[in-house]
Amino acid sequence: MNILLTGAGGFIGSHLLRALTREGHWVVACVRNLQGAKRSVVVADYIACDFARDLGEEAWLPRLTNIDVIINAVGIIRESCGQRFAALHTDTPIALFRAAAKAGVRKVIQISALGADAGARSQYHLSKRAADEALAGLDIDWTILCPSIVYGAGAKSTALFRALASLPFTPLVGDGNQRIQPLHIDDLVRAVVQAVEDNSTNRQHIELVGPHAITMRELLAKQRQWLDGGELRPLAIPYPLALRLAQLGGFLGATPIDRGSVEMLQRGNCADVTPLIAAFNFRPQSLDAMLQKTPASDADRWHARLYFLAPLLRYSLALLWIFTAITSAFLYPQEKSYALLEEVGIDEIAQPFFLYGAALLDLLLGTALLLRRHVTAVALLQIATILAYSLIITITLPEFWLHPYGPISKNIPLLVATLIMLQLERK
Ligand SMILES: NC(=O)c1ccc[n+]([C@@H]2O[C@H](COP(=O)([O-])OP(=O)(O)OC[C@H]3O[C@@H](n4cnc5c(N)ncnc54)[C@H](OP(=O)(O)O)[C@@H]3O)[C@@H](O)[C@H]2O)c1
Repeated sequence: MNILLTGAGGFIGSHLLRALTREGHWVVACVRNLQGAKRSVVVADYIACDFARDLGEEAWLPRLTNIDVIINAVGIIRESCGQRFAALHTDTPIALFRAAAKAGVRKVIQISALGADAGARSQYHLSKRAADEALAGLDIDWTILCPSIVYGAGAKSTALFRALASLPFTPLVGDGNQRIQPLHIDDLVRAVVQAVEDNSTNRQHIELVGPHAITMRELLAKQRQWLDGGELRPLAIPYPLALRLAQLGGFLGATPIDRGSVEMLQRGNCADVTPLIAAFNFRPQSLDAMLQKTPASDADRWHARLYFLAPLLRYSLALLWIFTAITSAFLYPQEKSYALLEEVGIDEIAQPFFLYGAALLDLLLGTALLLRRHVTAVALLQIATILAYSLIITITLPEFWLHPYGPISKNIPLLVATLIMLQLERK
């Protein structure tokens, strides 16, 4: 079958892409950034689409020639600049579904979310529900799948849970008794592939959950146990404070979740597993069984332990450069700076240019890092700058190598830290 898969580069989309091509289907994989797309599957067409811009049917109609089935796996958990729930979850999917009905596409499979129902309160769920309702009203076959939290290799939520579990003290929202019912990605993929290949789930709205509900506290304890056999040390954060912190983190773009995510978590995310079993004729695997099947690797442990340290490293390096710029331009006595430049061989006329030019360069490099702009180029420039500063001082003021505070020898770990940050920040 010819399948158009949106969100093909995401966690769920990339697992679907592999499974569908393995089953012999031809997939047109829609990704946001065609150049940056990791073309992990060669037997697929990659095309560019942007749900923030492709808001009209006319944007989709030309992409639907000869397409039998559409699977929509685009979504965001929180809004950011240019990425709005209204466009990504509602307006563009509706335009796509209407175009599908016009183009004679046989079926649409919509990956919605558990909770996008009559009780929906969050913008995330309400925006998904609006698209689900529009699809259900069209003259086309559809299956709407509403998964609970999906876990497995590449899941952002799994990475966050493991990182939280590996902290010396694991923050919990309140007592951590929020109930969720995680579903393994293999089970989700199995359901979607079945929905593509047979018609028994046509015009059905099916909730997809794992076999057991567990609390967040239990989930994190299991992840901790799986990672290193350790005991979870919970740190209860009162719900109102957790909301405030998530709101602040979301506003600063510093956390993967925001206030809405914490509210959704508090509401819980559980359902009866029977409809899944009845519709697809298999029982989803339990979290315990899946954790048992795949022991944690060193890579899993490293990823969990470095999850929060990676942004901390970037912020601390950014602050070092900004602080150096401020001290050399405003706080360190100017005459001492000029005396140093004199010793390096810079003449009096050029000294202000070198002092304030270097401070400006440090400020620009630090600010770009803080804002996470062009990190690779910035890190390479920083490495070149550190090497250049160190070389000039080694040649002109070699005694600085023997200085008790180690102003030059400290550049060695700084270079290594910059290299590590470069690797951690690479997508
Ligand atoms: N994972 C879960 O636990 C879970 C549970 C319930 C429901 N869902 C739903 O399942 C769907 C897929 O989730 P996921 O876990 O795979 O999320 P994900 O890994 O974040 O993937 C989301 C996909 O959406 C794409 N996307 C984001 N903004 C886009 C835009 N403006 N235009 C085009 N594509 C855009 C992303 O492309 P880029 O790679 O270019 O960013 C990515 O391919 C979402 O609708 C989500 O709400 C997920």
